[in-house]
Amino acid sequence: MRKSALLAGLVLAAAPGLAHADNPWDGGDAAAGKAVFVKCSLCHYAEAGKVKIGPPLWGVVGRPSGSVPGYPYSSAMKAYNHVWTPENLFVYLAGPMKVVPGTKMAFVGLADATDRKNVIAYLETLK
Ligand code: HEC
Repeated sequence: MRKSALLAGLVLAAAPGLAHADNPWDGGDAAAGKAVFVKCSLCHYAEAGKVKIGPPLWGVVGRPSGSVPGYPYSSAMKAYNHVWTPENLFVYLAGPMKVVPGTKMAFVGLADATDRKNVIAYLETLK
């Protein structure tokens, strides 16, 4: 009995969707999010260390805002001082210029909540 409970625990931990059950935005579809990311890729690379118009989004989930070394953030983003949790990304991506007034991310945002959840699920794979 104890052994099977342990095994069940291991199986749950190994299933990516279930391992993040405490994450309210999990359930986003990373494959669909990759298609949404095409909009972001105008200005962002998904690879580590590669600066386009915006900072690289590799590892962005869990990263403090404005923290890629050497990237010339706006003073608005430097002052924003949040961690990019899925919850904060969900709010930010709805209207970047409203959430961080003065940001140089000149992007109107993703009005569709499903698009936001999906792109966040994709961003979570960039690690
Ligand atoms: C028109 C160009 C452009 C587009 C399109 C764009 N971004 Fe950005 N993004 C930027 C710039 C520039 C910054 C830096 C903002 C600043 O310093 O104020 C930024 C910053 C960010 C940050 C903060 C990163 C950090 O290191 O703090 C996140 C997160 C982000 N963008 C996500 C996205 C996502 C996801 C998309 C697509 C849904 C997207 N961006 C689309 C230009 C863009």
